[in-house]
Amino acid sequence: MSSLIEFREVCKYYQMGDTTVKAADRISFQIQKGEFVAIVGQSGSGKSTCMNIIGCLDVPTSGTYLLDGQDVDQMDKNQLAAIRNKMLGFIFQQYNLLPKLTLQENVEVPLMYAGVPKPERHERSRIALEMVGLGDKLKHKPMQLSGGQQQRVSIARALAGDPAVILADEPTGALDSHTGREVLTMLQQLHAAGNTVVLITHDNSIAVQAQRIIRLEDGHVIYDGDASAPEAVVTPNLAGRGAAG
Ligand SMILES: Nc1ncnc2c1ncn2[C@@H]1O[C@H](COP(=O)(O)OP(=O)(O)OP(=O)(O)O)[C@@H](O)[C@H]1O
Ligand SMILES: [Mg+2]
Repeated sequence: MSSLIEFREVCKYYQMGDTTVKAADRISFQIQKGEFVAIVGQSGSGKSTCMNIIGCLDVPTSGTYLLDGQDVDQMDKNQLAAIRNKMLGFIFQQYNLLPKLTLQENVEVPLMYAGVPKPERHERSRIALEMVGLGDKLKHKPMQLSGGQQQRVSIARALAGDPAVILADEPTGALDSHTGREVLTMLQQLHAAGNTVVLITHDNSIAVQAQRIIRLEDGHVIYDGDASAPEAVVTPNLAGRGAAG
């Protein structure tokens, strides 16, 4: 069986005058169904680059990205849109909710694009909002909610499409630490319920809440393994010095 997500020697290079910036440099990993993986690294390490490739928003300069066993680079625009709709649920730092729509309508937007008929959209959006604890606020507008609640709406929106992968890019970045923890707990619950979650973060204390950590530095994978292992959070420079000394 193929992995849900597979990077094979993925590179993303940018030419800046005379210098080549290697945002991703031969990155390889596989993510299986049901995993909860944090992709972590400092600013500029290549997280967004990976996120954009995983999310089919960008393609590698070289190497291969397989989503559910299919080579994304070989797809045309329509195939891409279709696989993105079917496979991926996005959660961003900014919730990207539409202010004039109700919570339920906001959750329905991607379902509408996916061509789901109205009665089913209604039902699925209601269930998704109930799952994130907002079942009593279907007709509210985003502005009537706290930041954490708005992020829960965006989680419901990601869930409503029943995606194979939930892709969360710094989902707690705009939240205070308490609310951030709540959102993280929700991702853990989704994982416990069988969902595959890929979380992008620069924050070690958030990454260790996942099951597995893929750590990036300068476009390279420098750690891939158990999130609870001590070496999962050791910064590579210090580790290198430690080993040398
Ligand atoms: N469009 C671009 N043109 C040139 N260089 C780029 C471009 N996008 C990214 N880079 C470079 O690639 C490297 C990786 O960038 P990336 O955005 O993936 O980092 P990141 O880990 O997401 O950082 P942050 O935590 O700050 O969001 C950086 O050195 C960045 O400057
Ligand atoms: Mg980034």
